[in-house]
Amino acid sequence: MLPTIAREDDTVVMIDQRKLPAEEVYVRCKTAAEVARAIRTMVIRGAPAIGVAAAMGIALGIRKSKSTGTQKLAAEFYRICEQMAATRPTAVNLFWAIDRMKRVFAAAAKAGHSVDQIKDALDREAQAIHDEDVASCRAMGAFGAEVVPADARILTHCNAGALATAGYGTALGVIRGAVEAGKQVVVFADETRPFLQGARLTAWELVRDGIATTVITDNMAGALMHQGRVNFVVVGADRIAANGDTANKIGTYGVAVLAREHGIPFYVAAPLSTIDLNTPDGSRIPIEERNAKEVTHVAGTQLAPEGASIWNPAFDVTPHHLIAGIITEKGIIRPPYAESLKRLFEAELALQHGGHGHRG
Ligand code: MRU
Repeated sequence: MLPTIAREDDTVVMIDQRKLPAEEVYVRCKTAAEVARAIRTMVIRGAPAIGVAAAMGIALGIRKSKSTGTQKLAAEFYRICEQMAATRPTAVNLFWAIDRMKRVFAAAAKAGHSVDQIKDALDREAQAIHDEDVASCRAMGAFGAEVVPADARILTHCNAGALATAGYGTALGVIRGAVEAGKQVVVFADETRPFLQGARLTAWELVRDGIATTVITDNMAGALMHQGRVNFVVVGADRIAANGDTANKIGTYGVAVLAREHGIPFYVAAPLSTIDLNTPDGSRIPIEERNAKEVTHVAGTQLAPEGASIWNPAFDVTPHHLIAGIITEKGIIRPPYAESLKRLFEAELALQHGGHGHRG
């Protein structure tokens, strides 16, 4: 399986997604600050992957701490958590993973565990977040495969693949699941300006897997649908609000509107760690704005003239009424989302209190 991120002794290793597909190089982060920088600069990106990176970065930072007492360690721990939380604002998986690490720290400290025991507990939790994410993606793949047409012509936007997760992918997990289930699948990958995650990363992953892939520029999706060449759309998510409104890579909203116009089912694939019941609707999701240079330049070449103002939101919000279903590791959630998402989390909570499973 494609190695997105791994902990190796005193480093967190990640494939440099800025360099793909031209170069396959790995970045070795030796400190929590280096992991935070890697998230901010998009060495690693994609909602679940940045959650895993933050958890591993926290565990790494604390592993390297010279603090001998729990109080000093706690101060360092919360400082590192803040550093991770300040990297990117939209994907809720980041904050979900940090919260899980905080809960483990608090429980270990409360139980009077030693500094070494706390370090071990944080290492274990970060690895668990990683491993659970792979398992969730596989489950999403199996559930999602059921709604993919037998002869599927799938459009996807951005990269919600192995690279955006601990492995296998969410939207690409559904595509992989459909292929594994024996369905005929061809994929259209939106190039996804400005950072080109579709052209660079999705196409790279799918071609490696031998899945027929056609890259289109973002403005071609409408014509493609009008010609009847797409019968299924699946995308990932960075944050799903309590009413089902979904933030994902900029351009997703346009794809959803086009899918509705052409009667094509539009699905979102995301783990429960992407669902944020504390955010009531899409208008409350913080949308990251990134550097203007991502828009004015392509691969270092300036395209737009000096003096033009630039707007560069990294995400947009697709209203819940455009979404046919949300494919999760627990099954496919259907509208009305305000009720079905609430029920999903109530069932999860009941399961935890019954002593099964582990969720933050
Ligand atoms: O800015 P990015 O590349 O981190 O944005 C990624 C996306 O929008 C993905 O679609 C989303 O995080 C889901 S990844 C499984």
